[in-house]
Amino acid sequence: MTKTVFISREGASEPRVSATPETVKRFCTLGFAVAVEAGAGLASGIRDADFESAGARIATAAEASAADIVLKVGRPASAEVSLYKSGATVFAVMDPYGNAAAIAEIAGGGLTAFAMELMPRMTRAQSMDVLSSQANLAGYRAVVDATYEFGRAMPMMMTAAGTVPAAKVFVMGAGVAGLQAIATARRLGAVVSATDVRPAAKEQVASLGAKFIAVEDEEFKAAETAAGYAKPMSAEYQAKQAALVAEHIARQDIVITTALIPGRPAPKLVTRAMLALMKPGSVAVDLATERGGNIEGSKLGKIASVEGVSVIGHANGAGRIAASASALYARNLYAFVETMVDKATKEFAIDPEDDLVKATMLTRGGQVVHPSFASAVSTDGGAAENKKEQP
Ligand code: NAI
Repeated sequence: MTKTVFISREGASEPRVSATPETVKRFCTLGFAVAVEAGAGLASGIRDADFESAGARIATAAEASAADIVLKVGRPASAEVSLYKSGATVFAVMDPYGNAAAIAEIAGGGLTAFAMELMPRMTRAQSMDVLSSQANLAGYRAVVDATYEFGRAMPMMMTAAGTVPAAKVFVMGAGVAGLQAIATARRLGAVVSATDVRPAAKEQVASLGAKFIAVEDEEFKAAETAAGYAKPMSAEYQAKQAALVAEHIARQDIVITTALIPGRPAPKLVTRAMLALMKPGSVAVDLATERGGNIEGSKLGKIASVEGVSVIGHANGAGRIAASASALYARNLYAFVETMVDKATKEFAIDPEDDLVKATMLTRGGQVVHPSFASAVSTDGGAAENKKEQP
């Protein structure tokens, strides 16, 4: 029987959408019927009529109850979980850390839930890597936001009235978002420097034409986990890093922070005292506000004035460039779902032995099945917050 894919309209604070006309067309070719909730794409510049011409049917929210597969950007809310039929499969950014009760509720609804952000960073899964596709755009947007707030020019300009100096931009955290921020600031003509605790970042920063600044001691040499992520650093390292940053930041016009450690609060990298060293009119962008922030005084969803520096704390960086972010996110989802469809029979089937399924499947058959989240739920019924670190 033809299976139905349902595309939800997200809540008011989420402008992205989990499908585009391009992916709708591809799901139809794969043998699915696609239903799109009315208005789902509007905030990403996609009209209902565009989805219809691609082969989708426009539906009400309540019609999600008939779907076999639900595609979402954010984790489904309680009302959605109770609406979906038992046995349906949901793909979304589930944000499972610290949200054990919500994940237990999804399990209790009989749903099979996939957390797209747990996709392993391996070659086979690159086209499904939502963290990369979204962080890349957030990094770009951070520079655009900073440029807009900054009262001076980014590139050096030699004019008849004299020279305007190039802006100095310092990027803290050179992962996917940070590297795109470096590249974007360089394209705008800024003089760019960057820091990270992972030694691998040094070469990547240099290859983008930026200067690498870091405390390169023995701890730094071992700061990368086997999965390529940063480890939490010791208090001693943090003190050395803070001294170096304070000295460097005093000479910067714009600071962009992107530092994260999976499953933990964001490391605090910039203090009020450091901001006070910057020139008036300087700008800082904290891309980590949703995880507690890298900058002291940054406010989620606001532009705060801290010691004379405009500290931009917008939430949902990728959502601020929603049309592009939705296009990439939709392709990431399609690429993953496609691996579960038998090319010959067009049957949708989940293979629990597949490495990508093992890494991302949170719930199935009424249980929380992911090893990093299952134990907390079985011992406390999901009531306690799950603080486990990502493996
Ligand atoms: P992330 O979003 O977890 O963190 C951002 C950056 O903050 C990282 O570079 C991290 O090292 C840095 N950071 C953490 N604590 C810090 C501190 N105290 N001071 C300064 N910087 C700090 O990382 P993201 O962007 O998700 O990338 C993680 C790794 O995965 C990187 O090595 C990246 O190159 C790699 N990657 C591999 C892919 C693949 O092989 N397919 C795809 C995408 C990323």
